Amino acid sequence: MTIDRIALALPVSLEDRIGAELVRHGHELAASCGSADELASVLAEGRADYAVVSARPRYLNDRLMTEADAAGVRIVALIEDDADRRHAKALGLHEVAEASSDWERIELLMLGSSPPEIPPMVDAESGRGRVIAVWGPAGSPGRTTLAIAIASELAAAGCTVALADVDTHSGSIAPAIGLLDEAPGFAAACRLAGADSLNRTELERIAERYESPGGGFWVLTGIGRPSRWPELSADRVAATIRECRSWVDYTILDTGASLENDEEISSDLFAPRRNAATITALREADQVVAVGAADPVGLSRFLRANVDLMETLQLDRVTVVMNRIRASAIGLNAAGQVRQTLQRFGGISSPILIPHDQAAFDAAILSGRTLMDVAARSPARLAIAAMVADRILPPQSGSSKRRRKGVKVLA
Ligand SMILES: Nc1ncnc2c1ncn2[C@@H]1O[C@H](COP(=O)(O)OP(=O)(O)O)[C@@H](O)[C@H]1O
Ligand SMILES: [Mg+2]
Repeated sequence: MTIDRIALALPVSLEDRIGAELVRHGHELAASCGSADELASVLAEGRADYAVVSARPRYLNDRLMTEADAAGVRIVALIEDDADRRHAKALGLHEVAEASSDWERIELLMLGSSPPEIPPMVDAESGRGRVIAVWGPAGSPGRTTLAIAIASELAAAGCTVALADVDTHSGSIAPAIGLLDEAPGFAAACRLAGADSLNRTELERIAERYESPGGGFWVLTGIGRPSRWPELSADRVAATIRECRSWVDYTILDTGASLENDEEISSDLFAPRRNAATITALREADQVVAVGAADPVGLSRFLRANVDLMETLQLDRVTVVMNRIRASAIGLNAAGQVRQTLQRFGGISSPILIPHDQAAFDAAILSGRTLMDVAARSPARLAIAAMVADRILPPQSGSSKRRRKGVKVLA
């Protein structure tokens, strides 16, 4: 790249890093502006070839976009949250990157050689965001692991995403990705939904943000103390999920294992029910990802629980995933054996198979990061990425086509 004059309009926290990076890469820092209007003047005077701005209204506005068009200057906006993303989108600016992105990514966008950000395939603003529940029987088949991985893949595909911990028995999203769970976000959202005052602003205040160069997502953390389960009543959970639909493109619900309908156990109609959150999440979801562990015990648990899933809840739209495929627990041709067992005893065809991948998941847990962030080329991550492209994102979207190229589906 030749020496380019790059102007910035960024908050101080970002200005230092980006300014130093661009100089280190051989460019010239043309100006550091404190506002969109100041930058617009710099561009009008022909003092810059490119601009990097924050997507906050203070640093990015209509006038700046008009000046940039007139001067033929390409702008890249750095986003810190969904409000920024929406602001950039509203102005028609598609060259956006997460604020934590490295310089290489920003430069690719500046040169226009990176694929444009994929527009969300579902439109949260119309209240039609999709809801995906990740469920599986007892015995830790990998519900939480998969819910996190699906959220990160969808975020990387350019969608806005919220990941909610709805497990009333052993919620564990927060510690898995290095977030605090002192103030359970999902319970707080339920409380507001119960008082009819949950909205997008409140959700963004309550939720924590998992930041990643690939694409960040919102997290509504779970109840730290299991004794708080009565806060997650069926009506509140349903109302919270409805609100999430008009907040983000995809809401991923990490559920508990038990489908036991407490109504059959307790005759008190008004008693709170511990499994209400999981059952409501499954009923409200557009798609259920059902996970089982691919070993003899896990398979038999899955097949039994799957009958409950189908019969009690009468669910269709279930995507079956067998996790931790390995020859050491199942024998030679593990994938073939698992497929046969599911077909023969459950009538389940074409399950998704995720390989056992101890090194990659240990690295993720150890660092409190997603699989994508610590082991992007690991076999388990590639299998999950392929699943998201093939079974979750709409078939014709550019992202699934692009992803399929680099991703081998486990045979
Ligand atoms: N494919 C895999 N290979 C290796 N380890 C895995 C795999 N999937 C999940 N794990 C590990 O299994 C453990 C339990 O997973 P988790 O998602 O918490 O289960 P659940 O939510 O179903 O209780 C975690 O430590 C996770 O890292
Ligand atoms: Mg879990």
